[in-house]
Amino acid sequence: MDIQLPYTPRPLQAVLHQELAQHRFSVLVMHRRFGKTLMVLAHLLRDAVMSKRKNPRYHYITASRVMAKQVAWDYCKMLAEVIPGVRMNETELRIDLPNGARLQLLGADDGGDRLRGIYSDGLVLDEVSLLSETLFTQVIRPMLSDRQGYCVMIGTPAGHNLFYDYWCMAESEPGWYRKMYKADETGIVPQEELEAAKAAMSDDAYNQEFLCDFSAATPGAIFAKELAEIEEQGRITKVPYDPGLRVDTHWDIGVSDATAIVFTQKVGRALHVIDYFESRNEALPFYARVLEEKGYLYGTHNAPHDIEVTDWSGTGKTRREVAYGLDINFRVLPKLPLEDGLHAAKLQIKKGTWFDRENCHQLLECLRFYHRRYDPKNRMFRTSIVRNWATHGADAWRYCAIAQRESFDGQMPPQRIAESDYNPLGAQI
Ligand SMILES: Nc1ncnc2c1ncn2[C@@H]1O[C@H](COP(=O)(O)OP(=O)(O)OP(=O)(O)O)[C@@H](O)[C@H]1O
Ligand SMILES: [Mg+2]
Repeated sequence: MDIQLPYTPRPLQAVLHQELAQHRFSVLVMHRRFGKTLMVLAHLLRDAVMSKRKNPRYHYITASRVMAKQVAWDYCKMLAEVIPGVRMNETELRIDLPNGARLQLLGADDGGDRLRGIYSDGLVLDEVSLLSETLFTQVIRPMLSDRQGYCVMIGTPAGHNLFYDYWCMAESEPGWYRKMYKADETGIVPQEELEAAKAAMSDDAYNQEFLCDFSAATPGAIFAKELAEIEEQGRITKVPYDPGLRVDTHWDIGVSDATAIVFTQKVGRALHVIDYFESRNEALPFYARVLEEKGYLYGTHNAPHDIEVTDWSGTGKTRREVAYGLDINFRVLPKLPLEDGLHAAKLQIKKGTWFDRENCHQLLECLRFYHRRYDPKNRMFRTSIVRNWATHGADAWRYCAIAQRESFDGQMPPQRIAESDYNPLGAQI
């Protein structure tokens, strides 16, 4: 039976469909409104219809389920409604085809944990800049292994983050395809519209969204200016561990979320950020082992007030008590309003801080991407911050800055629990 999907690829889309069919991994960097989302959905649906495999599964994945529904579900329905015998499940955001194939829209809301255990014959990651650093390696790649499925990454740049890494990698990796289309090359967005957008947007925003410039700063990025300054001054460089000094740690602790740890050493008045670690869905013993394996000589371990809540391990103890049993005696940081913490975090970057470029790569990416929400109606950045993969590292950095302020100028509220080797928890541990 001949099925004609209600989609005629534009000439550039037609070229891309051919390339996607020939490569297992593709990275497509395209300007806004290129037609990326519609193109890849048509590609997935065509493959699903034509598949001769048993129970073929195709997936469209983006940062959240809500976003998947907003940007892709209407396109899916429009494309699929001409297929005889098709069933559309709006609750599951799933299209079931008569040949047993399925196309499903998924969100990586929880870092992609709900995607584990699913196999895929082919999938698309849309708006890759919004996805977490570990999603591809820990969740997506294993989904493709059973059936040697393919993966297409698409999006618009947002700084030198994960998407940029894959873009660079695709240049030399065998079997990978990459292509970039900028708005001034494709002619898809009319010239007058491009000029109007340019007039209404900052240079960085325009260069990023329409000219696919990876080096443009993320619009609304909170620490962009400070990081650019210290980069210029050569303070993001090789910053080795000094075995003659203690290492302090600064934690952002998540339960179903990521936990992030910043490792610092005080060298005179300077702060050396020598290392960073982030993982998710692990309990405190896992992180205690990480600290031990790093082999540093530790000083103070700092954590925010939520360390006092009951641990998720089911012991009935607080996280602080569990940590104490693992020889991590947390100092509880004072609760500061977010904006005060952000102010401290900015100042701390400027104030004699050095970052190790290699060990702190992921932390620096978080800090560069951490940004305020844009309000298109009022054409301004709101005070609220976009929560995504960058939040954990940025929060841990904020706590690190608060910890420095406390120990340097003593203007903060007094510590609630004395730092000492005395076991405040008595004989229970
Ligand atoms: N082949 C095509 N024929 C006609 N219209 C198309 C085609 N491809 C895309 N469009 C239209 O172009 C517009 C943008 O498409 P789409 O949402 O897929 O772009 P995008 O690159 O994902 O945009 P964004 O960057 O905003 O996510 C939509 O109105 C869509 O219907
Ligand atoms: Mg899109």
